Amino acid sequence: MAEHELYRKVARAYAARFQQSPQLVVRAPGRVNLIGEHTDYNDGFVLPVAVDQAAWLAVGPAAEPWTTIRAVDMNDDEVVFSVAQVPASVGGWSDYPKGIVWAFLERGLQPSNINAVLTSDVPVGAGMSSSAAIELAFAFAWTTLGQFDIALPDLALLCQKAENQYVGVNCGIMDQMISACGKAGHAMMLDSRSLDRRYFPMPEGVAIVVADSLVRRSLAASEYNVRRAQCEQAVTHLQAYVPDVMALRDVSLRNLERFGRGLPDVVYRRARHVVTENDRVLRFARALYSGDIDTAGALMVEGHRSLRDDYEVSVPELDVLVEAAMEVPGCYGARLTGAGFGGCTIALVAEESVAEFQTHITEVYEARCGKCPAVYVTHPADGVASL
Ligand code: GLA
Repeated sequence: MAEHELYRKVARAYAARFQQSPQLVVRAPGRVNLIGEHTDYNDGFVLPVAVDQAAWLAVGPAAEPWTTIRAVDMNDDEVVFSVAQVPASVGGWSDYPKGIVWAFLERGLQPSNINAVLTSDVPVGAGMSSSAAIELAFAFAWTTLGQFDIALPDLALLCQKAENQYVGVNCGIMDQMISACGKAGHAMMLDSRSLDRRYFPMPEGVAIVVADSLVRRSLAASEYNVRRAQCEQAVTHLQAYVPDVMALRDVSLRNLERFGRGLPDVVYRRARHVVTENDRVLRFARALYSGDIDTAGALMVEGHRSLRDDYEVSVPELDVLVEAAMEVPGCYGARLTGAGFGGCTIALVAEESVAEFQTHITEVYEARCGKCPAVYVTHPADGVASL
């Protein structure tokens, strides 16, 4: 990993800017989610994979009483602030490190001032958790430098709190938890209620192929909050009939069909997505465990349809990518990954069919959507670490 191109890039940029070598270089990965979309904030199950694409941070203690962070991907934009007094959020990339300092202070821990250089090859706004990667990189760096005693799952919660309360994005726990706790070669099934994690080895000979639609939707955050509110509305309604229901996680399809009739149709469909998606995650994990990739793939396609029709977070471009993917022999399954409203699809593809897969979906996407998608293989990687 120390040989990684981005390792060398941030270490070199740090030395040029601060006239010394960094004390450490941290790598925090982005992720793709194999299945379990919009289930985490409903206390449900998710099955993400940490990926090759990651945020890289070169860092060392500051001699001056302030923190200087340079973002090489943002034309060397620099932010300067003191950890003694975190400025208010202003939007933009610097909210992530500032939010992490804010979250440490909330926890009664005082981080020290640092010098840092940041880069990342997680595509921004593509549903691959570029922000969680940056959060984890900074949280891990400050934890290491301050010798704080915080376990990785706790660090993920701290980052989620920063994102929810400082940055102001009401996300669930999936992205931070997989960036913190991912394991090379494995997918991680997370129970978002208990935070229990189980690791499933990815099958040999099957590639995870990402296709970036290049569609970026600014309304994603507001629509995300609308979906969350609809899920809460369904829970409140169902509690009148089934008092044990704390979240949609606790609702069976049978109970939804029986007691959900009084709900507005759109709210009913949102709940149906979450209830059926939770079940799909469990079935997918069983299929993965028994090496039944055909079943796993079929569940992905079912999941995509549910996201498209019931949850309504797909866009025509993502549907085109999934349809094109399923035309290729050797593709087991495909679906949108992440919150939706644009971003990426993922597919599980037999390794020998990857080249044909790339050619086919690129051609179809160009013909039908007039754009050239970025299509690449990614690999299950480790969670955050210093190198
Ligand atoms: C975003 C959020 C996650 C999760 C997904 C949808 O990535 O950050 O918490 O809700 O959307 O599954």
